[in-house]
Amino acid sequence: MGRPRARPLGPLLLLVGLGLAAREWRGSPEQVRPLVTLEQLLWVSEAGSVHTYRVPLVAATARGSLLAFAEARKLSAGDVGAKFIALRRSTDRGATWSPTTFLVNDGSRADGLNLGAVVVDQERDSIFLLYVLCAHHARCPVSSTMILRSRDDGVSWSLPRNLSEEIGTAMFAPGPGHGIQKRYEPHKGRLIVCGHGTLERDGISCLLSDDHGETWRFGGSLWGIPFGRPKLQNDFNPDECQPYELPDGSLVINARNQNFYHCACRIVARSWDAGETLPAEAVTFDPTLVDPAVAAGALATSGLVFFSNPAHESQRVNLTLRWSFTNGSSWWGPPLQVWPGPSGYSCLAALEGGGDPSRPPRLYLIYEQGRSQPIESISLAEISIAGDL
Ligand SMILES: *[C@@H]1O[C@H](CO)[C@@H](O)[C@H](O)[C@H]1NC(C)=O
Ligand SMILES: *[C@@H]1O[C@H](CO)[C@@H](O)[C@H](O)[C@H]1NC(C)=O
Ligand SMILES: *[C@@H]1O[C@H](CO)[C@@H](O)[C@H](O)[C@H]1NC(C)=O
Repeated sequence: MGRPRARPLGPLLLLVGLGLAAREWRGSPEQVRPLVTLEQLLWVSEAGSVHTYRVPLVAATARGSLLAFAEARKLSAGDVGAKFIALRRSTDRGATWSPTTFLVNDGSRADGLNLGAVVVDQERDSIFLLYVLCAHHARCPVSSTMILRSRDDGVSWSLPRNLSEEIGTAMFAPGPGHGIQKRYEPHKGRLIVCGHGTLERDGISCLLSDDHGETWRFGGSLWGIPFGRPKLQNDFNPDECQPYELPDGSLVINARNQNFYHCACRIVARSWDAGETLPAEAVTFDPTLVDPAVAAGALATSGLVFFSNPAHESQRVNLTLRWSFTNGSSWWGPPLQVWPGPSGYSCLAALEGGGDPSRPPRLYLIYEQGRSQPIESISLAEISIAGDL
């Protein structure tokens, strides 16, 4: 009998190769070199019938499209007043964008709509957009939190539904930014949208949905101190906020420090029960994330955490992107300065590597940008995470 024939190595190598290819890309400090590869102005204020575009949001859908939203303030730059919600959509990874459509028109309300949060249900391929009406109680008695849904990748949208019938009429301003869907236990699949209350009461809370957006309820809250009273300089007043999920299934909520309690930097809240509670003893402050009190972007993807804001302790200038290899407990330096001049609210989204999970995702940073004021236009920067990869 001859020697047993050597087993051909081909199939084994193929399997090893597939195993590698299927593994999700994980950024290491050697590979991660964020670089702006394209920047486009999506909206310019005082063009056409809109006075000012503000509060931009960007989301990546389950089908790999990008949706950009903004408040289109009809008559003035102020937070109060009548508005549209503007939407543009890209189906080619941000290369080209649809013309603007106006999703919602609040008519001539004295205290119109304010954005808002977008949350994508990846499991059910639907997208929710939340906003608030009468957030400032300016010549209107009752605030309403509204929600609309798209089941066709953002092409068409349901009529807005009044969520306040379900969650009550205490003012809840979602975001601004994106909600998340839990990717890990506990409560994998849960939709979570965080936001804040009135400036007098303030503090942050999260809305939770365990049935893919059919019903919503409040989870935990972290109230401002003193509660229910106008705040003074340096009081504890967590405000506009952005949640993200860490790989251990815990939740981080990165919040605007409205009255500069402890520092001119970000408040970081945590939750280990998918937003049911936001324990006060877990609150920290991140001295690296210097902030002038603004809505910032935060996103966890591929084992990295990204953060965007105007990195300045008192002025909305110097839009900066930072990244962390340590679940947000430290930030890699130097960061990437995206725009040195006036810049304000920002929001981040990531598109996975074009159907190939072994490639790094592409990052999209939408932000308020200007030359003399931050509210002149809304810009979208496309960022390659691994330099020229
Ligand atoms: C939403 O529902 C609340 C509670 O029923 C109500 O007070 C409020 O007027 C409604 N808002 C709108 C815009 O219909
Ligand atoms: C912009 O941000 C970077 C990073 O934090 C910082 O080093 C730099 O001093 C800032 N520039 C201005 C003008 O604030
Ligand atoms: C980040 O969190 C994950 C999950 O808990 C953990 O495995 C990893 O070691 C953490 N990374 C760092 C650098 O702390």
